[in-house]
Amino acid sequence: MTDDLLREACARLLQQLFPSDYTEAISISDVKGRSNIHKKILLKGGQEFGFKCWSAAKPEDGGEEGCAERDSKLNQIAHLVKAPNVCEVRYTRELDCEPFSNRPLAISKWIPSSVSMDKVSEIDLEQIRQSGECYFRKYGEWVALGAAMGFRDWTDNNFVWSHESHALALIDMDWSFNCGKEKASTYKDPIGKIKPIDSQHLDKCISEFSAGVESMQLKLKAQCNLIGQLLAESALEQLREFEPELVDQLKDQASQELKILLG
Ligand SMILES: Nc1ncnc2c1ncn2[C@@H]1O[C@H](COP(=O)(O)OP(=O)(O)OP(=O)(O)O)[C@@H](O)[C@H]1O
Ligand SMILES: [Mg+2]
Repeated sequence: MTDDLLREACARLLQQLFPSDYTEAISISDVKGRSNIHKKILLKGGQEFGFKCWSAAKPEDGGEEGCAERDSKLNQIAHLVKAPNVCEVRYTRELDCEPFSNRPLAISKWIPSSVSMDKVSEIDLEQIRQSGECYFRKYGEWVALGAAMGFRDWTDNNFVWSHESHALALIDMDWSFNCGKEKASTYKDPIGKIKPIDSQHLDKCISEFSAGVESMQLKLKAQCNLIGQLLAESALEQLREFEPELVDQLKDQASQELKILLG
């Protein structure tokens, strides 16, 4: 399959799935992740979309179907509770074109002018250190949602930040609902790079983080029944009841830990 044919097939699908965002597809390129098949389409005007299939999924994690199911459920729940800057993702198997043929696929609308936290520039980091309240508010919301949903993949390449719009989104949600438990990392990893924050700004960042956790806690409680219904529809055994009470423990503990880590 040539890149031209693949780009055209991806473009046709984008036109169906994201009609109001669609403009001419200019290029297709590889997204360098750990091992999944992941391509990026650039549209005229600059909007990017990711096309990903879970080629690296392990059988014990439910294979590609399991990854697609967990990713999709967490993305739907993130929309339901209005998580900050949550990305539009469509799940389909309708791309009849190698290397994606007949595989579950996630097609994501990327945050404009964003960069993942592993690649964030020193200038952006300094801006977060100096006026990072908005960053930490959103981070608190994501941490609370992730904790309630058994999210395990707290790496810096799974958070994208836009310096321009101050958007902070969690992406790559398949390692959730306690999948991958043995390799759990912590929610502190994605912000390790930001430290140190001086004492003038630190308290404000931590209190915004706490406010973010609390705000998500309230939204989770308000949407409890609908979230339960969404999860109950799943055929996947790994999906369990979500645990909003974990967020209660998190607020004080995480705020204290972050204060020590970032100071
Ligand atoms: N919605 C998005 N907005 C902006 N950038 C994105 C988005 N989705 C993915 N990216 C970019 O693509 C990179 C890889 O995305 P993702 O983590 O979903 O891929 P992956 O194939 O699962 O890789 P890995 O296995 O390394 O996590 C991200 O680190 C980020 O730079
Ligand atoms: Mg990732």
